[in-house]
Parts: sequence; structure tokens; C-alpha cells
Amino acid sequence: MQKSVSKIAKDVNFFLKKYLKTQKKSNLLLPMKYGIFPGGKKIRSKILIDIGKMFKINYNTLIRISAAVECIHAYSLIHDDLPCMDDDLVRRGKPSMHIKYGESTALLAGNSLLTLAFEVLSDKQLKLNEKIKIKLIKKLSQCSGHAGVAGGQFLDLDFEKKNISIKKVINMQLKKTGQLFSFCCMAPLIIAKKNEKLIKKFQFIGSEIGFLFQITDDLIDAKGSLESAGKKTKKDKKKGKATLIRLLGYKNTIKYAEKLKFNIKKKFKNFGYESNNINQTLEYFLNRNK
Ligand code: IPE
Ligand code: IPE
Ligand code: MG
Ligand code: MG
Ligand code: MG
Repeated sequence: MQKSVSKIAKDVNFFLKKYLKTQKKSNLLLPMKYGIFPGGKKIRSKILIDIGKMFKINYNTLIRISAAVECIHAYSLIHDDLPCMDDDLVRRGKPSMHIKYGESTALLAGNSLLTLAFEVLSDKQLKLNEKIKIKLIKKLSQCSGHAGVAGGQFLDLDFEKKNISIKKVINMQLKKTGQLFSFCCMAPLIIAKKNEKLIKKFQFIGSEIGFLFQITDDLIDAKGSLESAGKKTKKDKKKGKATLIRLLGYKNTIKYAEKLKFNIKKKFKNFGYESNNINQTLEYFLNRNK
């Protein structure tokens, strides 16, 4: 049966709540909780679980790994909203972390969520062989760091108000959003001990899925509202963000996204019935308003 994204969100949050109870007390725990609860859509977790199901990976194992991914995602959003980055005041329908707790706390709570992700993955309660765990930790580090999300965020800011080629914009999106999705798509294959070639294939498909997701985020920024999106919209144009919409226009960007979705789905064709869930999730991307 298809696990709905709301059920997955509930399970990831339940796990994280329990996990935080085992932590030592600190002044950062409260802001960290503010950053992850109730949290966002958990779309990365959904992708991880869709692919995980294709390779028959245990659901609870996938939830723990999803929790690690969502911590990194939450950290990236907390930092993304800071005045030195996108300078956004609203996130997930409430004041951004730095508005609520101040900039230094936002920085530190963000850092702490990043490191918490690796604590979750290295925890002995995650019942995986040590070699696999180390591989997951290494991949997640690479996807999040200077050549992944952080590197992509650098380019996103560097490209503001500049004339940037479509090739460079795509490369930036494949990093800033693509890399975390990339991890979600390859983690189940690492656990299933699939060969390197197939892992690489899924790693790439994952980055394309993330790219598709970022395009739909940019579309929501262009035409969506604060009420439905839970964050301020129509900001990318003002900030001069290098998006596909700026290069191709709104309508052509939708066409581009449809084509990209079609090509991604084609890559799952060999998996037949097993790919139904991931295909449905991809459909949701283009129909969402939050
Ligand atoms: C927003 O991600 C930032 C992007 C990378 C596009 P989500 O749309 O997944 O944010 P939440 O987690 O649901 O709030
Ligand atoms: C953020 O992209 C991507 C990250 C890796 C955090 P955006 O800057 O477009 O995300 P929103 O629109 O603020 O959620
Ligand atoms: Mg940004
Ligand atoms: Mg932003
Ligand atoms: Mg955006």
C-alpha cells in the first residue's frame, strides 16, 4: 500500500520527539524543536520511503534515515532564511527561527540540527551493518557539504542579479536542492547492497527529482500565496534569483518541468509496478500549492 506523506510525516516526527527526549538538556533544544516541529511536508522522506519500498527495506529503518535527512533539511531552511541569505521572515506558517530566537541562536540551532543528523545515523539503534552505516554517513556528508547543498546555496546567492546561463542555473539547482534528494534515492540501494553502477544511476535520478522539486518551488514563489505556501512569495524576482522562470518565463518553465517529469518517470519504467508510488509522488510535485 502507498504510505501517504502525512503518515510518513507523523512517523518521522514521532521518532524525532522520542530521540530528542534521550538528549542531554541544553539551551538550544527548544529552538531546535521550533525548527523541526511540526515541520514541513516531509517530501524527502516520502521519496526515500518510495524508493526504499522498491528495494524492500524495513520501514522503521527508513524512518530513522528520513529523520536524519529532515534534520539537515530543517537546518538548511533556518540558515536560508537568515538576513545574510534570503532574509525571510516567515517559514512554515510561523516566524522564521531568527525572528523568534535571534540570529545567533538560529545559526547555532541550525548547526546542531546538522550534527544531530549524523548522531541519528551513527546510533546503535539503527540496525544496519557498520560498513553500510559509514557509507550512508559519508554520502550524506558529501550531499550536504561544499559540493552539495551548501555549495549550491553559495551559487544561489552568488548568482543573484547576474546574467547566468541556463547550464549554470541547472547545475546550481542540482546541488542546492538536488543533492539531498540524491541521498534519499541512493540510500535504499546502499542498504540493499546494490552495485555501484545502479547506486550512481539512482544518485543522478535523485538529483533530477530534487531539481524538479525546486522548479515547482520557484513556480509557487511566482504565483502562490503566503496563506497556502506558509512562506512569503514573489521574492525570487525581487531578489534577482537565477531561476529557470527568469530565463524561460513562467509558461515555458511549466513545460520544462513536465518534460523533466516525463524523463524521470521513463527511468523507472524497468521497475514496473514497483515504481507506482514514486510516480504518484512525482505527479504531486507539479500539482502542489505548498
Ligand atoms: C523548501 O523545501 C525549500 C526547497 C528546497 C525548495 P520544502 O518545500 O520541502 O519545505 P518544507 O519542509 O515542506 O517546509
Ligand atoms: C532553498 O531554496 C534551498 C535550500 C537548500 C535551503 P529556496 O530559497 O528557494 O527555498 P524557500 O523558497 O526559501 O523555501
Ligand atoms: Mg534560498
Ligand atoms: Mg529561501
Ligand atoms: Mg523558493
